[in-house]
Amino acid sequence: MRSYLHINHFLTIKLIFLSLITNCVFCEDLCTKFDVSVTQKIENEGFHRELKWIVEISSNIIEKMNEAECKINMRLDLPYGMFVNPDEIADLNRNKKICGLIEGEVNIEAPLHEATEHKINIFIGVENVTEKISVDLPVHLRYQRAQITGGFGKVQLNKPWLLVNCTKKTRICGDAQKIPAPCSLVEHNKTCLWKNMTYQALFENVEVFVPIGDLDDYPLVSIVSLLLGCSGCVYILSILSTAPL
Ligand SMILES: *[C@@H]1O[C@H](CO)[C@@H](O)[C@H](O)[C@H]1NC(C)=O
Repeated sequence: MRSYLHINHFLTIKLIFLSLITNCVFCEDLCTKFDVSVTQKIENEGFHRELKWIVEISSNIIEKMNEAECKINMRLDLPYGMFVNPDEIADLNRNKKICGLIEGEVNIEAPLHEATEHKINIFIGVENVTEKISVDLPVHLRYQRAQITGGFGKVQLNKPWLLVNCTKKTRICGDAQKIPAPCSLVEHNKTCLWKNMTYQALFENVEVFVPIGDLDDYPLVSIVSLLLGCSGCVYILSILSTAPL
């Protein structure tokens, strides 16, 4: 009787121990940290800019992502003051410089106060995810209404989202929110559920400055008012000097 109890006890302890081990194996093996960082640079001045991102992915994540056949969609929500040109994106797609899909209507003529919203999905690592992926995206700033106060308007640039979609089950940590977005450039009518991953942004939120359109008239206006002012002075002075003292 006693030995039977003893064995029973032993079995329970063994079971608990086993489950602990398997759980730990689970947490270490099934989950790899999504170790990805992004840098951002904005090149050029004025109305036509180039956004340059470099996405760096740690090698253990690459392995997991390629195993699970993952693709990445870098999705940028364009602020009202900025747009991507559909013709230009089509050209870049044709030349395989980018794999970009615009969502929403883009009116390239519209000034800021008449603009509608649009997004661009940039599919990266389409065939294979690699350690360092650079993405260059030309963007354009919209004309803004003239203001009396200043020569520049501000546009707040959004951070891109990094969406990940895998064919097979992944072992990447975190329960990211799932977001519907187009599956790929080819299957642009099909919606996939993408995981919105948290990444390390090695840049700050930035504002871009844009010259305000109607300022072209400004020099003319100031010269005319200066001349008017001067001729007024001359006139008054001439009256004063000819007047009898
Ligand atoms: C997706 O993730 C980004 C951070 O990378 C965050 O700013 C954004 O709000 C998220 N979107 C949704 C719909 O959760």
